[in-house]
Amino acid sequence: MRLAVLHGPNLRLLGRREPEVYGTETLDSIGGRLHELAKELGVELEIHQSNHEGELLDLIENAAERVAGFVVNAGALTHTSVALRDALVGVGKPFVEVHLSNTTAREAFRQRSYLAPVAHGVVLGFGGDSYLLGLRGLVTHLYQTS
Ligand code: DQA
Repeated sequence: MRLAVLHGPNLRLLGRREPEVYGTETLDSIGGRLHELAKELGVELEIHQSNHEGELLDLIENAAERVAGFVVNAGALTHTSVALRDALVGVGKPFVEVHLSNTTAREAFRQRSYLAPVAHGVVLGFGGDSYLLGLRGLVTHLYQTS
């Protein structure tokens, strides 16, 4: 089984971006931990980051041909992008929405997610561990339904 992790805008800055909100772990470090967990769970993983909405849509469309599901931190696009939601629904693969911070405890504009209502699950507020929890949950779900 192959899965994809998608990081949206500004997540390449992790480690130095607002460390009081997002912590000090870098995207590479999270990626390393995700690959280790994937090995433990017996799944293959591909990881992508883009600052561009259209590129994320293309990634979803292309990756959907080879993956069983997605772990998605869409960054700010979570709160704005109908197109991203439509792409994820359109490819018909389950996905888990993850965020490093607990977005529901932050500014009002971060409290609406266009993705959450169509996600299989949502993980908020555990820093880099949110991705790992999301991956575990997605793999369990996929094994249960395959
Ligand atoms: C974030 C939360 C978003 O509101 C923000 O725009 C981000 C990071 C998180 O992981 O906590 O870029 O997705």
